[in-house]
Amino acid sequence: MAYFSRVVGTGSGFPERVMTNAEFEEILDTSDEWIRTRTGIETRRISDRLKGETTLSHSEKAARNAMEAAGITGEDIDCIIIGTVTPDSVMPTTANQLQAKLGAHRAFSFDLQAACSGFVYGLSVADAFIRQGQVKTALVIGAETLSSIMNWRDRGTCVLFGDGAGAVILQRTEDPAHSVIATRIHSDGRHGSILKIEHGYGKVPPYAAEYRHDLAKVQMVGSEIFKLAVRNMCESAQALLDSQNLKPDQVDFFLFHQANLRIIDMCMKTLGVPPEKTWLNVNKYGNTSAATLPVGLDEALRSGAVKPGQLVLMATFGGGVTWGTALIRL
Ligand code: UT7
Repeated sequence: MAYFSRVVGTGSGFPERVMTNAEFEEILDTSDEWIRTRTGIETRRISDRLKGETTLSHSEKAARNAMEAAGITGEDIDCIIIGTVTPDSVMPTTANQLQAKLGAHRAFSFDLQAACSGFVYGLSVADAFIRQGQVKTALVIGAETLSSIMNWRDRGTCVLFGDGAGAVILQRTEDPAHSVIATRIHSDGRHGSILKIEHGYGKVPPYAAEYRHDLAKVQMVGSEIFKLAVRNMCESAQALLDSQNLKPDQVDFFLFHQANLRIIDMCMKTLGVPPEKTWLNVNKYGNTSAATLPVGLDEALRSGAVKPGQLVLMATFGGGVTWGTALIRL
């Protein structure tokens, strides 16, 4: 018996506070105009830890919305994977904690770290578990509280990122026509230094004499990331389509990692994607790392921009560097 994974529900979850570009003008040498024209970002959501808004709470909201859409309860879930670089704690994992909250007592659960590619990596892993027969129902989440790892004095990074979560429920099917058709995940550790958090872990722990708070936050060489993001997302997407004997114009809908509107535009031009065949929300949420793609899929489905039965290609790129693509028939 051959098994495949079908997307049966999606959901999103965000903290309440909306932070505008104008607010950055108060604290940094930046402007709404620069942020809008260089990135497309207008607002982002920022968590209030004291109100209990964390990666776990965003994940729980997204998961409950996706479970409602799928018509399942926690008891139905066999596997929970959360792609995140901002877990509530290292141990137990955020996925372990979510398992308890959802009453998913039969499931196994773990966090997965692949920076902005965390959701596509998680989807790929969950799909493999389903194909192999071990899992019938998987909850795959991309969730971040990036505001907690920003250097709020670095205008080159802190204006770009935001908090939130997106979730997808995958269910085992024997119908290959409506399924995750193929995924590709990649990494190239040689470029690790262009997007990194250096301090705060084993090499320079917080108790080390040389530990620096600013180096325990995100540092990025934006222009290098920009070039690699466009090239690698397009190459991976093209290779995946080639492997399926498909041309880009046979794909109904494209979801690109929402890091920068100019990156998305360049990918669309390279692959020949018209504007009506994609979803943009980088203006509202900024870059939410692993959350951008499942949130985009959720919003596009709920708005009717993409419909059950359509062929969707998603592509992502992030620190590591990591990148990947997934082709899904909804
Ligand atoms: O999720 C995956 C990882 N993230 C990404 O994919 C992000 C990829 N990179 C980018 O989106 C862009 O490279 C940025 C938006 C980060 C930067 O845009 P850029 O056009 O590549 O600008 P740049 O880094 O070359 O900087 C141009 C100028 C610099 O000033 P000088 O040195 O030319 O005087 C920066 O200091 O813009 C300056 N700058 C700013 N100015 C006002 C950088 N950040 C800001 C800011 N406000 N917030």
